[in-house]
Amino acid sequence: MTQASASKQRDILVTSALPYANGPIHLGHLLEYIQTDIWVRYQKMRGHNCYYVCADDAHGTAIMLRAEREGITSEALIKRISEEHQQDFSGFHIRFDNYHSTHSEENRSFSEYIYRQLQANGHIATRQITQSFDPEKNMFLADRFIKGTCPKCKAEDQYGDNCEACGATYTPAELINPRSAVSGATPIEKESEHYFFRLPEFADFLKHWTRSGTLQPQVANKLAEWLDAGLQEWDISRDAPYFGFEIPDAPGKYFYVWLDAPIGYLASFKNLCEREGIDFDHFWKPESTAEVYHFIGKDIINFHALFWPSMLHSAGFRTPSAIYAHGFVTVNGKKMSKSRGTFIMARTFLDHLNPEYLRYYFAAKLTGGVDDMDLNLEDFAFRVNSDLVGKVVNIASRSAGFITKRFNGQLGTVTESDKLNVFVAAGDELAECYENREFGRGMRRIMELADIANQYVNDEQPWVIAKEEGQDDRLQAICTNALNMFRLLMTYLAPVLPETARASEDFLNTRLDWNNRAAHLENHGINKFKALMSRVEMKQIDTMLDASKEELPTATAATTKPEAPAAGMIDPIAAEIDFETFAKVDLRVVEIVKAEPVEGADKLLRLTLNIGEGERNVFAGIKSAYTPEQLQGRLTVMVANLKPRKMKFGVSEGMVLAAGPGGKDIFILSPDAGATPGMRIM
Ligand code: MSP
Ligand code: ZN
Repeated sequence: MTQASASKQRDILVTSALPYANGPIHLGHLLEYIQTDIWVRYQKMRGHNCYYVCADDAHGTAIMLRAEREGITSEALIKRISEEHQQDFSGFHIRFDNYHSTHSEENRSFSEYIYRQLQANGHIATRQITQSFDPEKNMFLADRFIKGTCPKCKAEDQYGDNCEACGATYTPAELINPRSAVSGATPIEKESEHYFFRLPEFADFLKHWTRSGTLQPQVANKLAEWLDAGLQEWDISRDAPYFGFEIPDAPGKYFYVWLDAPIGYLASFKNLCEREGIDFDHFWKPESTAEVYHFIGKDIINFHALFWPSMLHSAGFRTPSAIYAHGFVTVNGKKMSKSRGTFIMARTFLDHLNPEYLRYYFAAKLTGGVDDMDLNLEDFAFRVNSDLVGKVVNIASRSAGFITKRFNGQLGTVTESDKLNVFVAAGDELAECYENREFGRGMRRIMELADIANQYVNDEQPWVIAKEEGQDDRLQAICTNALNMFRLLMTYLAPVLPETARASEDFLNTRLDWNNRAAHLENHGINKFKALMSRVEMKQIDTMLDASKEELPTATAATTKPEAPAAGMIDPIAAEIDFETFAKVDLRVVEIVKAEPVEGADKLLRLTLNIGEGERNVFAGIKSAYTPEQLQGRLTVMVANLKPRKMKFGVSEGMVLAAGPGGKDIFILSPDAGATPGMRIM
């Protein structure tokens, strides 16, 4: 018997990867949280004892530096981001049983405990390593915090590990003119003692574990390659300054963010257990009969399938029942891109579209594998409109009116049991689809059933019967049959469309109960039908893309390569500055003497500005809104004392002020007539 059809109640703990607390949630992330949420809602619907926990991944250098840039503490930053993340998740109906933080007491205590266990078992080694060090900031620099000229193609301003211009990979020591992306200082080499997790000692354990059915075949193959190539010891310490947990008995040394991140799964669950009186050990003791599943993206498989099970094993916890990896989201066939407007934030989507559209589209395309998933926006609109609005909701809207108007809201008896039994029986097949994360196959099957239901209504033509004398019973039966089909469809769609399911429950005046689905609704009062879902318009999608277009390069402070894809963007909530800081800004009226396109840059214009006491060269991302001719001779406002910034195309000596959402709507701030170049703004 498969797990899906077993009637025994299962104890299940489910996690999604913990999003970094240094940037907003975007559509790429959402694939994972939506996939997990659908799976969890399905398990709960089947009556299993299923918990879904997550947390913000709050530690690391990137978060520390960003907080510093904003002039706030790391704690204040992660608190704000956590609130934003949770709002985004709840906007998409992602329902965690607990949302915690890796910067929590539970996580500190588990991290210390696990570390001490590893140490007691002889799985921790220490040794000196040499690393780049910023002598001005007094901190060690990870590769992505070092910039310089590519040793191969000589492109300037490249990161310490690879060149974005020619694709070369190298070590920071090979960079020409290396400098710290944090302070600009030239890095020096410095020694420091680091702590290592002796992963190679787990090679046999991992060979067995990765082949024990816990992993998808593609993932198991990838791991077999890694295992064959040989495992390396894993550096789990970082030197101060670092935002994280100090390592016990090692002052100034901190756990690397990836050590305590997966432990955050335990911490969040523990926090839930304490609150609700759940038996933590039942889930985490070795040989536990409870099930534990981690949903993750394919980019973080090594952390979850190598380090994490080894740590758990060494520390005396059970290992996960399975790790479910998914692929990456592309939009219209390409990597999400800020300039194309396809780097879409969760919030931006919610501002323009119904979150259930995305839940359905992802579900319709998800498999149990790790293939990437393309969000093609035309296909998206088409699928949602034709499947959900055109097929599913349509069945209810075609039948409900007659029941309300002609039968005082009362359903009659079902006369098409055979047809309905096909719908009921499909539930077993759909259960398998949900259980195995073959959501796409499930959605296709549900739409086949919807086609059968619509065909039934077409054949019976209730709108014709309604006009005939003495056909009341037949009319009521047709609508009763159709609405029972609708009820089953919505039961099966409930994990994907929780809001529409809830509204359907109100309308049908019943609970959508998977396990009790064979009991038809007969001689039962229903409520007036209200539109359950509206069509997607391409116009809404276009507006959303416009709103997602790249931030003005004039206003983006590029300092470090983001850890998460979404970071590095201007935060929607700007940090407060005090008056003294503001007073330092030298704002001037300037004349645009010359404006010219920049070869190779889509958005930039090179502006020559007369600032009253000479000329300045500034790059401004306003090409989408102005031609060079429209700008020449105009007065505008600039920040004259901005530290010159080296950009790909040259040095920018200041910043021109503009306003607007982007695209065609960028407005150069123009001073009143009478102003002259060089005039200071007060
Ligand atoms: N903080 C780590 C995870 C620690 S888990 C103990 C991290 N955070 S993340 O914010 O970068 O990503 C969170 C999840 O979203 C990861 O599983 C990642 O694979 C997934 N995705 C991020 N961008 C994605 C796409 N463009 N497409 C699909 N999933 C993506 O990694
Ligand atoms: Zn290069």
